[in-house]
Amino acid sequence: NKKITIAIDGFSSTGKSTIAKQLAKELSYIYVDTGAMYRAVALYAKNHQFIGSDFIRKDDLIQALDAIQLSFRFNENLGFAEMYLNNVNVEKEIRNLEISNLVSTVATISKVRQKLVAAQQEMGKNKGIVMDGRDIGTVVFPDAELKLFMTASASTRAKRRYDELIAKGENVTYDSILKNVTERDAMDTSREDSPLVKAKDAIEIDNSHLTKEQQFEQVLKLAKDTI
Ligand code: C5P
Repeated sequence: NKKITIAIDGFSSTGKSTIAKQLAKELSYIYVDTGAMYRAVALYAKNHQFIGSDFIRKDDLIQALDAIQLSFRFNENLGFAEMYLNNVNVEKEIRNLEISNLVSTVATISKVRQKLVAAQQEMGKNKGIVMDGRDIGTVVFPDAELKLFMTASASTRAKRRYDELIAKGENVTYDSILKNVTERDAMDTSREDSPLVKAKDAIEIDNSHLTKEQQFEQVLKLAKDTI
């Protein structure tokens, strides 16, 4: 059995990470959530007053990039890796709406992208990896053997994210989530460096009307046919 690279890209809250995690588990591959890395940089920037809802000190953040150490550590109980920022578990903090509202601005900065893309390429150099994000099939692993591009309607995605955050006990409204999802999509598709775009050889999966089981079945078959 040869090991391959599986790149999963798409808009916010299309269920990329759910599919990627399931796939990695089934194939005994490594799973990497690249969104968590951008979120951790956004958290660092926020904590150091490099970014807020109405300002960004881009040069100061770039200056500080060497002081930002990101790592994933496997949590046996959860069955997946969690994000650490300078050796502190930030898994919970990086998922809140405040960070969601700042992260896409941070992700427009080329120096940030260069640092994270290099780390991602290093993690995937031996293949046997499922990576999800926005530029995995286009920039990080343009030669990935299997590329998926996930889509779903904005309302489906916002509902999904809303249910997730409510289940975690966050105090959010559906409208604030819908706004975040559509604004992030707009920024991610229109930025100059590595915009979100479907790679030419990516397979598009619209999951608005698929159950999680149906979707996983479909994706697992694609993976097995490629391996
Ligand atoms: O995947 P997630 O929704 O957690 O990603 C958060 C944000 O990080 C995205 O909206 C995007 O701005 C940025 N991102 C990116 N490139 C990636 C992964 C995430 O620009 N490969």
